Amino acid sequence: MNFHVLTLFPEMIEQGINTSITGRAIEKGLISLNAINIRDYAGNKHGQVDDYPYGGGAGMVMQPGPVYRSYESVTEKIGYKPRVIYLTPQGKVFNQSMAEEFSEEEDLVFLCGHYEGIDERVLEMIVTDNVSIGDYVLTGGELPSMVMIDAISRLVPGVLNNDVSAEFESFNDNLLEYPQYTRPASFMEREVPPILLSGNHPKVEEWRRQQSILRTMERRPDLMEKAELTKQDIKFIKS
Ligand code: ADE
Repeated sequence: MNFHVLTLFPEMIEQGINTSITGRAIEKGLISLNAINIRDYAGNKHGQVDDYPYGGGAGMVMQPGPVYRSYESVTEKIGYKPRVIYLTPQGKVFNQSMAEEFSEEEDLVFLCGHYEGIDERVLEMIVTDNVSIGDYVLTGGELPSMVMIDAISRLVPGVLNNDVSAEFESFNDNLLEYPQYTRPASFMEREVPPILLSGNHPKVEEWRRQQSILRTMERRPDLMEKAELTKQDIKFIKS
């Protein structure tokens, strides 16, 4: 899976993604990162990429030419037109099922805006998906693109050490994850739930499932409508 990021701050993306699990995935060749500086496509010796908004108003708008040329550098390299994700608070709110869908692509382009935005014409020409990471406003698209790259990368086979851990976690069946414990068994007079020390795996699995349900009802009741519950789960909820 190849991530191409069109940005005015390529070092920010590189620093963030060349670290920890995503950094190791790059070393292993499971994902690649191509952070492209839009300013390299300014087309003038001052490196200017923004200008005043037509019609007036505050701030500056990113010009279409540099953005389009930086996009072309990607299509020329890969030989086809990939999905282009524009990070914007006006987009569809990112979630796990979108991460799963995007993880099927061979190449993804992330377009990071700054200032008051990007000239609408180039957005119409190249963007396939407008995506927001939540209902708040950030200073640019770099952090949102890193959030998405992280969430998508961990779904690429081999990126996580254990194949099962991406499967049994929060948002599978739309339930939150159960609590985890490790040594010591007693910490400042707080004990690990005894069932986890019992060695009875079916009972452990049942307890974990119940904890997931209780946690979801308490912390994210909105998810319960979408939760995929078994007959046994429903029996537990009613008990
Ligand atoms: N750019 C600024 N705020 C954003 C957000 N919440 N999501 C995605 N891109 C953004």
